[in-house]
Amino acid sequence: MVHSKSKILFIYSSFIFVILCFYQKVQAQNIISFSPDSARQVISKHIYGHFAEHLGRSIYGGFYVGENNTKISNKAGIRTDVIEALKKLKIPNLRWPGGCFADTYHWKDGVGPKDKRPKIVNVWWGGVTEDNSFGTHDFLNMCELLGAEPYLAANVGSGTPQELIDWVQYVNFAGESPMSKMRKENGRDQPWNVKFWGVGNEAWGCGGNMRPEYYADLYRKYATFMTGWSVDNKMMRIASGANSSDYNWTEVLMKNIPLNMLGGLALHHYSVIDWSRKGSATEFSEQQYFTTMKRALFMDSLVIKHSAIMDKYDPKKRVALVVDEWGGWYDVQPGTNPGFLYQQNTMRDAMIAGVTLNIFNNHSDRVRMANLAQSINVLQSVILTNEEKMLLTPTYYVMEMYNVHQDARLIPVTIKSADYVLGGEKLKAVSASASIDSLGRTHLSLVNIDATKEQQITVSVPNGKYHSVTGRILSSQKLQDYNSFENPEKIKPAIFKGASLKGETLSIKMPPFSVVILELK
Ligand code: AHR
Repeated sequence: MVHSKSKILFIYSSFIFVILCFYQKVQAQNIISFSPDSARQVISKHIYGHFAEHLGRSIYGGFYVGENNTKISNKAGIRTDVIEALKKLKIPNLRWPGGCFADTYHWKDGVGPKDKRPKIVNVWWGGVTEDNSFGTHDFLNMCELLGAEPYLAANVGSGTPQELIDWVQYVNFAGESPMSKMRKENGRDQPWNVKFWGVGNEAWGCGGNMRPEYYADLYRKYATFMTGWSVDNKMMRIASGANSSDYNWTEVLMKNIPLNMLGGLALHHYSVIDWSRKGSATEFSEQQYFTTMKRALFMDSLVIKHSAIMDKYDPKKRVALVVDEWGGWYDVQPGTNPGFLYQQNTMRDAMIAGVTLNIFNNHSDRVRMANLAQSINVLQSVILTNEEKMLLTPTYYVMEMYNVHQDARLIPVTIKSADYVLGGEKLKAVSASASIDSLGRTHLSLVNIDATKEQQITVSVPNGKYHSVTGRILSSQKLQDYNSFENPEKIKPAIFKGASLKGETLSIKMPPFSVVILELK
C-alpha cells in the first residue's frame, strides 16, 4: 500500500515537473514599468531616416527608371509605387549620394542636360558605368515628392572646399550668384534649402583612410567655407563619425572641433556576423541568428559609450549623434553582382529593425538622426524591385508600425526581461520603447527576439489612465521567412489580440520572434 502511494506521488510530481518545464519553455516572464507622466524628451522623426546610394540597383531601377519609361509608372522618372510606399512610411529624410560613392562624386557631373553629362566609373560598387542621369535636381525634386528632408553627403575625400561651397550655393542660395544663376538655367528658380549636410563619409576608410586628427582639421576647414549663405544658421553640418566601437575617433573629433561648427557626429554600425563570412541572408542557423542579434543589440552600448564621450565636451547635448548607417549585412544573393550588395530580408531583419529603433528611441536625447542602410535593393532594404514588380520587406513593416513614435514624447521604460539563451550565451529577449503623441495616444513597441519562446509581459500602468488597448503584430512561421516576388504578402502586420488591460495591469503574450505595436487610450 505504502509502496503504491509513493509511486502515485512520484508519477504526480513528475507530471507537474514536465508541465513546469513545458511552461518554462514556452512562456517566460517579463515586467515593464512605465511612467507616462514623465514623458518629456521628443523622439526626433529623423531617427527614422533612410539612405540611397549610387550602388547596385538602389537609384537605377530602384528609385529611378527614367523619364521615358512607359512600362513602369513614374513621375519625372521616379517610380510612383516607390513614392506611395515611402510616403506611407512617413520617410522623414533621405541621405544621398553615398556612402563610399559620395567621396568620388562631383556634383557638377549630375546637373544640366542629361545627354551632355559625363559617364564615369562607379569604382566602389561593381565598376559599372554611372551615366549621371540621376543628379542633384532629380534627387532634391524627388525629396519634395516624398515629403522628406534631403541629407546631402559631400565629397571631402576627392573633392575640394570650392566644390562644396558651390554645391551649397547652388542648392540653397536665393539671390544672384554664379551658382544660383546656373541652377535657374537648369530649370529651378527657387532654392531647395537643404538643411542636412554630411562632410565626407567614413573618413577612416573609403573616404580617405584618414587619422582622426587629420580629419578633424579637414572638417574645420570645409565647415568654415560652408557658411555665409542665406540659410547659414539653419544648416546642420555632420562630421564623418566612428566605425562602430572606435571611441578614440569620437574623442578626437569632439576635442578638436569647436561645438559651434558641429551639428552632428555620425556613427556607422552594421549587424554583421563576420566580415569574411557574413552568411546567407535567408538560409541561416539559429546560432547565426543569435550572433546577428548580439551585434544588433550592441548598438545600445555603442550609443551609451559614444554619448558619454560627447557629454564630456558637450554636456548640453547640442551635437546630435547621427547613426547614418545601420542594418544587417549578409552575403549577396547568389547569382547577383557582388558589388551590388543585393540581399533578401527575413524576420531576422525585422528583429534587427525593432530592437535598433527601440534603442534609438530610448536614447533620443542624443540620437536625433539615423539612416537605415539602405532603402531599396541594397543591404537591409525596406523595398525590393524587379523590373515593374515591387515588394515591401518585413523591415518596411517594422518602420511603418513604429512611425507613431515620430516626434512623439518618449516615455521612459524599465524592462526586466527574460533571457534568450543559446549555447551558453544569453541576450535580453524583450526590448521595448514607448511614447505619447500630440493627440495624447500612448504607443508601446515591443520585440521578442527569442527564436522559440513566447513571452508573457506584464506592464504596470497608472490606474485609470487608459481604458482601451489595440495593437498590430508582425510575425511569421519561420525566422527565415521573407516576402518574395512570387509571394509578396507572406509577411505583413496583422491585428494583435494578445494584449488585455485590467485596471493597473496590461498583460501581453508575444509569440517568438515577433514585433508588436500597442496603442493605449
Ligand atoms: O552602405 C554600404 C557602404 O557601407 C557605404 O557605402 C559605406 O559608407 C559603408 O561602408
